[in-house]
Amino acid sequence: MTTSLVSPHGGRLVDLVVEEERGAELRKASRDWKSVDLTQRQGSDLELLLNGSFSPLSSFMGRADYESVCRDMRLADGSIWPIPIVLDIPAALGATLDGGESLALRDPEGVMLAALHVEEVWQPTREAEAEMVYGTGDIQHPGVSYILNRTRPLYVSGVLEGLRLPVHYDFRLLRRTPSELRAEFTRQGWQNVAGFQTRNPMHRAHVELTRRAAADAEANLLIHPVVGMTKSGDVDHFTRVRVYQAVMSRYPRNTAKLALLNLAMRMAGPRSALWHAIIRKNHGCSHFIVGRDHAGPGADSSGAAFYGHYDAQEMLAAHEDEVGVTMIPFKNMVYVEDHDRFMAADTVPEGARVLSISGTELRSRLTEGRDIPTWFTYPEVADELRKTHPPRSRQGLTVFFTGLSGSGKSTIANAVRVKLLEGGGRPVTLLDGDIVRTNLSSELGFSHEHRDLNIRRIGFVASEITKNGGIALCAPIAPYDSIRKENRALISPLGGYILIHVSTPLDVCERRDRKGLYEKARAGLIKEFTGVSDPYEVPEDADLTIDTSDITPEAAANMVILHLERVGFIGGRRSSR
Ligand code: PPS
Repeated sequence: MTTSLVSPHGGRLVDLVVEEERGAELRKASRDWKSVDLTQRQGSDLELLLNGSFSPLSSFMGRADYESVCRDMRLADGSIWPIPIVLDIPAALGATLDGGESLALRDPEGVMLAALHVEEVWQPTREAEAEMVYGTGDIQHPGVSYILNRTRPLYVSGVLEGLRLPVHYDFRLLRRTPSELRAEFTRQGWQNVAGFQTRNPMHRAHVELTRRAAADAEANLLIHPVVGMTKSGDVDHFTRVRVYQAVMSRYPRNTAKLALLNLAMRMAGPRSALWHAIIRKNHGCSHFIVGRDHAGPGADSSGAAFYGHYDAQEMLAAHEDEVGVTMIPFKNMVYVEDHDRFMAADTVPEGARVLSISGTELRSRLTEGRDIPTWFTYPEVADELRKTHPPRSRQGLTVFFTGLSGSGKSTIANAVRVKLLEGGGRPVTLLDGDIVRTNLSSELGFSHEHRDLNIRRIGFVASEITKNGGIALCAPIAPYDSIRKENRALISPLGGYILIHVSTPLDVCERRDRKGLYEKARAGLIKEFTGVSDPYEVPEDADLTIDTSDITPEAAANMVILHLERVGFIGGRRSSR
């Protein structure tokens, strides 16, 4: 198809998916090959290699390209490319690879996506890579942390042949390869296209910014959000894509298109900006919008920004002629109340009242069920965000009681259960020590290893309940700190996690000895008994500590309910949705 769209980087759009016949041949041959199960990031990289998003790359980089890209942002042949695209493999696999051998690259379900005919295996210096690509060795940088903690020690390269693109079951109609997008642009007669990259929900400021950018450049708009790996803590892509779909109606009809990009972001600031521009060029964009802090990784260990606010713009400005994409730079957009409109921060008239809401402020408004003003976002966007970020009083929650046998955990947990049911609203599940040991962990004993396994199982069930909006009340002894912390880390991102230490002292528990177990433990009839012949590690991170020596179960349960109310997990505004 003839087209007047910008040409791909390197002049030709790469397509590495082979004909069906060749695919069948490779699949057959692969029976004797070793396999690499691709990580999420590798899967994204492979997809973008196969479909030409990374043109002119035709495989994971060989050593010469890798070293040149790290050092000079150029491939060995001199063409500009700022980010290394490499396939990391375990040392054990690398050690057994012979030159000339082929590898089957598989998705997490084991489906073979591509064949890599091995030419080189080498050991990179990962610290040096981090310094060169990200300009820092600080582990707070997500890209650095990924290289140092998550990549495997050897890199492998060779000739790549794709069998199929990875399958995505979500938002299928919005996922477009570069050639599909180019065909659509051509069909619609689009020639100048401005690409907009984002990993965040879009609010009014973003729509204003992109509309103005496109108008200034007399270009159509490609809203091209990243749905691969972004920064931890970002809004999940399912929510974001529903938000993007909602805002598309805010653009004049037939002027803007939405498509998703399965890119694994590197958060490399300036280098990323250049890379993102090249990728958009391959998708047919003649222009690329770069705002403040493009692909910014946040603050370093000392609290300072890794890159300057406008470093990314400077980087692209320095290379835009060579790359062949026109940058549309944008300053930060702010809402000017007196004029009732958004303006670039540097054009606000002196003395005008400016309003803004940070990401942190937005999250706290959502969590607390507070209003989100309409100057900031559209009602349909606020609705989508509220669905996945309900206020605390509607989030799932785990209340984890820990303490010695006989300390009162089960009694309090049961009283709390009844009080929560009386209040209504969320389903409540009690995972009491004894219930769990009967139904989930009947084969386990009381060794350190078995206790950890028991608590991990409880944590898993509680995390599922929490994720799905219920309340899990857990009441095992859970004597070990590290596994308790593991559960907190697992559950906290999914909803609430409250640790309650039922701190009733050993002598009181022993005096009560309701099950006669302490007596048996003292007599040596029960081994590894917590508090007697096995340790209990007192939590230092308890949200609430209750000693039941001198209070009734009713009063103890009330303390829990009041705490939950105080931190917002029960009660809340009835009007908030
Ligand atoms: S753990 O450590 O969290 O896995 O323990 P848990 O699942 O809560 O089980 C504790 C209950 O099992 C009974 N029991 C023992 N407890 C501690 N140590 C030993 N060796 C032991 N053997 C049996 C005891 O009844 C505990 O119940 P509670 O309700 O805590 O009294």
